[in-house]
Amino acid sequence: MMRYNDIAENDYYKECLKKTGEYEKNRKFCRHDIKHFFDVARIAYIIALEENMDINKDIIYAAAILHDIGRYKEYENGISHEKASADIAKRILSECGYNEEDKEMIINAILAHRGEKKREGLSEILYRADKLSRDCVRCDAKEECYWNDDKKNKEIVY
Ligand SMILES: [Fe+2]
Ligand SMILES: [Fe+2]
Repeated sequence: MMRYNDIAENDYYKECLKKTGEYEKNRKFCRHDIKHFFDVARIAYIIALEENMDINKDIIYAAAILHDIGRYKEYENGISHEKASADIAKRILSECGYNEEDKEMIINAILAHRGEKKREGLSEILYRADKLSRDCVRCDAKEECYWNDDKKNKEIVY
């Protein structure tokens, strides 16, 4: 069985997801829930296949399902969620048997998933998949969304 199943079943992981879910219960904008995480994982994996990138599926899924896991800490005390997520991911990845090399790659991609940064490999596909996962066309909150119009997804790609 792929190791990312262990991540999804990890107690600390589930606890973090639940906390973010409580903060986002009434959120009308994009949520950071398990659906978003697996949307990102699948899109990132499709991109990797389409572009013949040599990145293990187990690594792609781990980065995707952990990239926003610390979101609740941003609600709690303003810590940027890429940093919070990276810290939480370190512990969970160790508990799930990812080695140091895997961990470093995943943590770097999580830390680089926001803002203007130079990205390549896993970091680049995680960033693209994260943006592509959002269904702006069918979103009820699109008029109020802080994303610029040119950033919004106007068609289904994946
Ligand atoms: Fe994020
Ligand atoms: Fe995200």
